[in-house]
Amino acid sequence: MRWRCGLPAPHRATTSELRALYPFVTPEPLEIDSCYLGREAAGGLFCFDPWGCYEMGALTGPNMVVLGQIGRGKSAFVKSFLWRQLIFGRQCWVLDPKGEYGSLAEAWDAVPLRLGPGLGLRLNPLDVGCSTPSEHAHQRRSELLAAVLASSLGRGLLPQERAATDVALAAAEERARVPTLPVVAEALLSPGEDQARLLGTDTEGLRQDGRQLALELRRLVQGDLSGMFDAETTPGIALTGRLVVLDLSVLYGSPALGLLLVCAMSWLQSAMRAGDGSKRLVVLDEAWAVLSHLPSARWLRATFKLSRSYGVANVAVLHRLSDLRAAGHDGSEQQRLAEGLLSDAETRVLFGQSAADAAQAGELLGLSTTEVGLLGQLPRGVALWKVGQRSYLVEHDLSREELALADTDGAMR
Ligand SMILES: Nc1ncnc2c1ncn2[C@@H]1O[C@H](COP(=O)(O)OP(=O)(O)OP(=O)(O)O)[C@@H](O)[C@H]1O
Ligand SMILES: [Mg+2]
Repeated sequence: MRWRCGLPAPHRATTSELRALYPFVTPEPLEIDSCYLGREAAGGLFCFDPWGCYEMGALTGPNMVVLGQIGRGKSAFVKSFLWRQLIFGRQCWVLDPKGEYGSLAEAWDAVPLRLGPGLGLRLNPLDVGCSTPSEHAHQRRSELLAAVLASSLGRGLLPQERAATDVALAAAEERARVPTLPVVAEALLSPGEDQARLLGTDTEGLRQDGRQLALELRRLVQGDLSGMFDAETTPGIALTGRLVVLDLSVLYGSPALGLLLVCAMSWLQSAMRAGDGSKRLVVLDEAWAVLSHLPSARWLRATFKLSRSYGVANVAVLHRLSDLRAAGHDGSEQQRLAEGLLSDAETRVLFGQSAADAAQAGELLGLSTTEVGLLGQLPRGVALWKVGQRSYLVEHDLSREELALADTDGAMR
């Protein structure tokens, strides 16, 4: 195979010749009738579908991580992948922090949902898709609140803060069928005697325990981030279209981007739960914004685990694995989290990396020294695919139309 971008091919042969000569080096093809993505170094066409791979036993989970240095073609690959999956009848939801999936949406006749202060669209992150009170719904809301508050505070919650959040949430759940963040903030600021008694304190003590949390929530409720997650979900939002793009570009660059993505993802989760069971890809581009805070990264991992039961394949796009290691300060938990997220994402699409990042990826993903060396040299548009235990080197093939949808170089030319 000769890369169109110039790397010389070391050897030319057909896939079957190579497989006969090097049975343990040339990967077994993914024999599935699915979406074509590009040419494989061993000579064949590379097709991939997470659900197809699951059925054939090549994967036990559908989630995917896409890694690579800036400008290596991560988003271009994701856009063409979504486009082709849409043609195969799948549903695709995208969290788009840079606002770059607009052309894809336009080509599919979908209108991106623009989320930002004052843009008129509200999503209730505490709406977890259960109309009746349940322990499970309470648990999901409680985890979300802990992730949002800890990300916002920049530290983990103290035990008394966790307890104050929990009783405030329970009070909010009694007040409204689906609670909202302002109701929880209000319950934190004015706790009742029953709640205080439950925690062996008085109302003033409980109010003190929850005061800082209430002030953090206030940012989302009345402060600079208000107008997005501070009320019931705007009625009539259609998630029935095959492509849904949630454009958060107004907030790109905000230090709060991670927590906003968590709120938006939480709301999407509720829609998944209430969904029709169709096979769906959920893309989190610029996932480092969520993963660079330990609490939100922890929350995302739990969410990834859950979504498998809804037939959802999550796709997280990030620059390098050190984004995972940079999450928080607790070395051992970062390491476990990074490893856990990676083991939950059995499909890894690895684009070109710096030598240092490639070495780290090699360590965390168990790559061979040849693969680590390769990662440091891959040209734009070429990626090493790890599908479960199998490896493929793939040059992504983008049609002229897809290239137009994927072009992010306009400003550079
Ligand atoms: N397979 C490909 N063939 C030709 N051009 C490509 C290919 N993949 C990407 N490109 C082009 O390279 C440019 C950068 O790609 P892209 O925006 O996908 O990079 P990225 O890795 O997502 O970057 P960032 O980290 O900044 O988000 C785009 O203009 C795109 O059109
Ligand atoms: Mg990108």
